[in-house]
Amino acid sequence: MSGIKIAPSILSADFARLGEEVRAIDEAGADYIHIDVMDGHFVPNITIGPDVVKALRPHTKKTFDVHLMIAPVDPYIEGFAKAGADIITFHPEAGAHPHRTVQSIKAAGCKAGLSLNPATPLEFLWPLLPDLDLVLVMSVNPGFGGQSFIESQLERIAIIRERIDALGLPIDLEVDGGINNETAPRAIAAGATVLVAGTATFKGGPAAYAPNIKGLRGA
Ligand code: DX5
Ligand code: ZN
Repeated sequence: MSGIKIAPSILSADFARLGEEVRAIDEAGADYIHIDVMDGHFVPNITIGPDVVKALRPHTKKTFDVHLMIAPVDPYIEGFAKAGADIITFHPEAGAHPHRTVQSIKAAGCKAGLSLNPATPLEFLWPLLPDLDLVLVMSVNPGFGGQSFIESQLERIAIIRERIDALGLPIDLEVDGGINNETAPRAIAAGATVLVAGTATFKGGPAAYAPNIKGLRGA
């Protein structure tokens, strides 16, 4: 297999049947379960909190890849860690001290990720890179599923890939937003190793999840 990981975003799942949906994408071959947390403040949408993460935890053993689009972020780290998050990713704009946030995530026993909006300067990333487990490049503006892939992010993925390789760091490079069978191979070619996909995973209902994931992986 290619070594590419697929992280279905449950934002596109049926929220009335979330446990079943998580089991279905687990069985369909998901590597990570991508959980989009939005607060109606940092982004213009409200989704789920730690209690929902906790309720989903018994439904799968797969990695919970929790993407926090909330500000402030620090007061909520422990809650998401206790709820069962494996990776906690935040945006550098969500607090005054991003390095301290990375330390707090690790102290809570989780892997730490930094997410960059399409217009966030890469300068936010470089000082933190050696301490991160994951870098998440947003290829849409955060807030909603089903948006179109922003082409300019491919070059940023390539720049980050070059730096990760030069430093020999064991970091996931994840891309999130507008990923489908056309954009996935291009994101992979640029250097992404984890593909978040909401719309492209959940389209067509449960019988289509396995072929959808296989298609994204390029198998
Ligand atoms: C956007 C979220 C994404 C989104 C992806 O704010 O972070 O994870 O749900 O959805 P698609 O794959 O539909 O673009
Ligand atoms: Zn996300």
